[in-house]
Amino acid sequence: MQGGCLLDLLDNSQEQADILIESEHGRILSIGKDLPEAEQTIDVAGLTLLPAFVDPHVHFREPGFEHKETIASGAKAAVAGGFGSVLCMPNTNPPIDTPERVEYVLQKSAEAGACRVWPMGCITREQKGEQLTDFAALQSAGVAGLSDDGKGVQHGGLMRQALFAAAASGLTVAIHAEDETIAGKGVLHPAAAKKFSVPEQPGSSESAMIARDLLLAEETGARLHLCHVSLESAVSLLAWAKSRGLRVTAEVTPHHLLLSEESIDEENTFYKVNPPLRSEDDRKACLRAFLDGTIDMIATDHAPHTEEEKAVGWLSAPFGMVGIEIVFPLLYTHLVSRGLMSLSELVKRMSLVPAQAFNLPASGLRPGALADLTAVDLQTERRIEPNRFYSKGRNTPFTGWMVRGWPVMTMVDGKMVFDARQKEVQC
Ligand code: DOR
Repeated sequence: MQGGCLLDLLDNSQEQADILIESEHGRILSIGKDLPEAEQTIDVAGLTLLPAFVDPHVHFREPGFEHKETIASGAKAAVAGGFGSVLCMPNTNPPIDTPERVEYVLQKSAEAGACRVWPMGCITREQKGEQLTDFAALQSAGVAGLSDDGKGVQHGGLMRQALFAAAASGLTVAIHAEDETIAGKGVLHPAAAKKFSVPEQPGSSESAMIARDLLLAEETGARLHLCHVSLESAVSLLAWAKSRGLRVTAEVTPHHLLLSEESIDEENTFYKVNPPLRSEDDRKACLRAFLDGTIDMIATDHAPHTEEEKAVGWLSAPFGMVGIEIVFPLLYTHLVSRGLMSLSELVKRMSLVPAQAFNLPASGLRPGALADLTAVDLQTERRIEPNRFYSKGRNTPFTGWMVRGWPVMTMVDGKMVFDARQKEVQC
């Protein structure tokens, strides 16, 4: 790759340099100027080269909900968003709760030939919250971690057993914290729920389960990961856990950083997401916690649904919004361009940090590292237009936002899997 600017993740500097890649083994051979001649030269002049991103939380819907997304369409969307790896949640139909189903996801991922799709395995069979899955068997089949995402494990005793077993296996458990006895059929955070006359989903349903699972993590020694943290109280609990040295990490979504319940348009159920958009104070607390490192990483919780499914009103519309193709431009524009965070810090929290939390191979801009790279255009400002998405899902409330930082090219394992200049993903 020739003529690009390389971001130094240590000091945030950018320097023009070429990268020589060994595509057969998917590794970076050397970085610098006047490198030996390559078989093929890719011109990346004007672009900034970054390690490809890692998303610890996506929903690619296969098997069972292929009309919303397939592993192939989701993986194409991921590489268009600059991602080299994603962790795919198991709330499919059937759920990913056996080794055979894990192998199915890995097979579909290999066929798609875009990004690395790492399956998450269910904590409980069929995500029913009644019996644990066979963690050792799921681990041998290749899961990156365990989660019942989409649902919380309601039974504290079962979760305790799960965390003891997970600690023995070394697998990270990613929790969707939602106490259903508190959340009920709530769809929005209290002030918005009142305004639009729909049932409320109070924040205590999330924080109560986070508190329980942090205590259990301390008791069992398990590695716990908090999915989509959205509350000031959750951030305080997380800070408490970290101060006690617990093995805990947490993610926040772009929508919980950039939107609050005050942003919701009553006519647009694309704002319906779980956990719901919270108060402005909660949003600010999550942002502060992400900036100071209490919240470790970004996750999109990319959750595609069709427009028809979403067009049935607040009570019945499914929760979720897509985000994998727009997360970097959104956060580059709203955090880096505004001087809240350095580019290198944002990139680390979208690549190395999630990879470490789930023991995934990490890419990096140095000789010998995995050649998972993305080249982004930090100059061109463009409106978010869902009809340009590769994802089948168009359900985003960010339509029309003007952002810069668009990924132009993505390489995974030394192979070019996305090139916007050729207007299509090559698989
Ligand atoms: O909004 C959400 N949608 N939150 C979740 O936890 C699950 C996800 C989905 O699967 O659609």
